Amino acid sequence: MIVECPDLDAMDALGQRIAAQLEAGDVVALSGDLGAGKSTLARSILQALGYRSEVPSPTFTILEVYDSAEMRLPCVHADFYRLNDPAEVRELGLEDYRDGAALIAEWPEKAGGFAHLPECLRISLEIVGQGRRAIVEQGSDWLGRAL
Ligand SMILES: Nc1ncnc2c1ncn2[C@@H]1O[C@H](COP(=O)(O)OP(=O)(O)O)[C@@H](O)[C@H]1O
Ligand SMILES: [Mg+2]
Repeated sequence: MIVECPDLDAMDALGQRIAAQLEAGDVVALSGDLGAGKSTLARSILQALGYRSEVPSPTFTILEVYDSAEMRLPCVHADFYRLNDPAEVRELGLEDYRDGAALIAEWPEKAGGFAHLPECLRISLEIVGQGRRAIVEQGSDWLGRAL
């Protein structure tokens, strides 16, 4: 499915649709070049889950965990851009943080397995003029969920 997101409001709307379907254990893999809008979409999803404070890009921390009382579901936001080796994912303790949470992963290809997870929601973002285009592929966990 292709979703045109010509502005930030459209990106927010897509984030809301994803958040409404998100459950513990889900993975949302966000691909696209630097500046394509991955962190923006992650922020929209987190806010739609109820998170009310600032959402920094996890470029340097690699993992940010969101688990505040107002959220419908705990969520881990990861940016694997800085990983040199997919094996580092284990050292980060990602599996512990993911327990009972959803995972939103930027640069999943840098984390090995996440790039090709057959069950995840894969979103590839492209810059189109001033806006963005989202190419959405629903893996096996997402089949039958209306986005
Ligand atoms: N749908 C959109 N329309 C217009 N600008 C957007 C859209 N999505 C993101 N942006 C802008 O693109 C810039 C880079 O976004 P960001 O989410 O940081 O990219 P990435 O995480 O992929 O590197 C930000 O200034 C953001 O406001
Ligand atoms: Mg980013």
